[in-house]
Amino acid sequence: MRIVIASSEAIPFSKTGGLADVASSLSKALAKHGHDVTLVTPYYRQILAKANGKVPPLNPLDQTIRVPIGNRMVEGKLVLSTLPGSTVRVVLIDQPQYFDRTSLYGNGEGDYADNCERFAFFSRAVFEAATVLRLEPDILHANDWQTGLIPALLKAEYRWRGGFERTASVFTIHNMAFQGQFWHWDMLLTGLDWKYFNWHQMEFFGKLNLLKTGLSFADKITTVSPTYAREIQTPEFGYGLNGLLYSRRDDLVGILNGIDTEVWNPATDPLLPQRYNHATVSQGKPVCKLAVQNKYGLPDRPEVPLFGMISRMTSQKGLDLILDCMRQLTSLDLQMTFLGTGDPGYEHALKRLAAEFPTKVGVTIGYDEELSHLIEAGADIFLMPSQFEPCGLNQMYSLAYGTVPIVRAVGGLADSVVDASEVTLSQGTANGFSFYEYSSPVFFRQVCRAMGTYLDRKTWLQLIQTGMERDWSWNRSAYEYERAYEQACIHRHAVVN
Ligand code: ADP
Ligand code: GLC
Repeated sequence: MRIVIASSEAIPFSKTGGLADVASSLSKALAKHGHDVTLVTPYYRQILAKANGKVPPLNPLDQTIRVPIGNRMVEGKLVLSTLPGSTVRVVLIDQPQYFDRTSLYGNGEGDYADNCERFAFFSRAVFEAATVLRLEPDILHANDWQTGLIPALLKAEYRWRGGFERTASVFTIHNMAFQGQFWHWDMLLTGLDWKYFNWHQMEFFGKLNLLKTGLSFADKITTVSPTYAREIQTPEFGYGLNGLLYSRRDDLVGILNGIDTEVWNPATDPLLPQRYNHATVSQGKPVCKLAVQNKYGLPDRPEVPLFGMISRMTSQKGLDLILDCMRQLTSLDLQMTFLGTGDPGYEHALKRLAAEFPTKVGVTIGYDEELSHLIEAGADIFLMPSQFEPCGLNQMYSLAYGTVPIVRAVGGLADSVVDASEVTLSQGTANGFSFYEYSSPVFFRQVCRAMGTYLDRKTWLQLIQTGMERDWSWNRSAYEYERAYEQACIHRHAVVN
């Protein structure tokens, strides 16, 4: 198949969250399966400049693309590249006015005021790039609100243009919490007819909603775990779009993300002081643990359980649960390390705790790829008590690195972590600890359970081995995307005929 994947972020070019990992690693997995894959993403010049040579060669094309935005024509350029170690063609959309900024979506004061315009431009530029490069895709795969216009543009406008006659669209939800909502006059920027601004297509309580647009027009909808696919059809997780998702439930499928095992593999990871696999984890992990303790200035104590958390610091990630029981946590014989950035309230609270308990709590505020690998390898236990979690990647990195996760059983966390009960331990499926009720006492009990099990070395090693032995790569999920693409093509033909 000829597949074009559009994403507002993609490693190693840009990243604010898991979408960047998924866009690139899914593209690579599909290319390995023999598909012709093109990944289209914005050219964030300032972000790329900070990447210190980690980015593959970039080849600017001479050709200019022209995109209608409202009543203006906005010009852009294309820059070509390849995803390292793959045949995936990368097209970066260069439009300095929109994308040459310090951040992807906003600054300290909030989201950029022209985000609708920026991503309306990007969505149309994907079609223009496909035309210039004669990609003639079978599948246009859009991700999250930033590319929500793509399925609508395909249906309303481009499907009659040369090169898109047989194209079907797939839209993937990575997070329902971000919907791309703008005042109604931004409809003019999309270039789409006002007739689509109605309650079952683009309008949501008087506003233009780009996530809803993607969901309404896509031939097939996917989300990033089977449990999240069910959850978002309910009011608790659907953020007002649960009715629409329920009405499209036959076109909606949940596919668990995979991880890029070329990057996240403890046996080959160049960022670890000692590499290890499931057979050598007992020798390798203590060396990495010591490196984490040194990095955070925590006492070198091999016997004490070391907890790790790497996260955007937002309410989604369950930091309230942790902070609410921090007094009890620090009364236990443990060490905790945090790496993340985000909400200043959480950042300050954690920094205060690190100052108060320097032998127990270590905090790094910031984004640090290298340290994230070290924590995944060196920690004994990983914390991910998310309020909601469409998929989550860190729990899978943890499982692959022999780090036992404590998670809330929602979304992809429920689909990847099997709670250690008598039954699951005897069946050999247990790989972590999970709980459902979103409350600090319940979370604290899981920490105590995990610490109790940690002392039982045989059971602990069983949990580690079970996590490490499962294949967390894209192997299985890439096939599921292929099936979703095939269904999108069939569905599209059904609609067109
Ligand atoms: P989300 O996309 O909701 O943030 P995911 O678990 O899907 O959550 O993906 C988060 C990704 O970002 C992971 O690859 C994680 O390692 C990475 N990450 C988050 N915060 C940091 C940080 N401060 N430093 C390094 N990597 C981080
Ligand atoms: C979103 C979700 C996260 C998911 C990621 C990649 O950022 O919050 O759970 O893993 O997208 O799909």
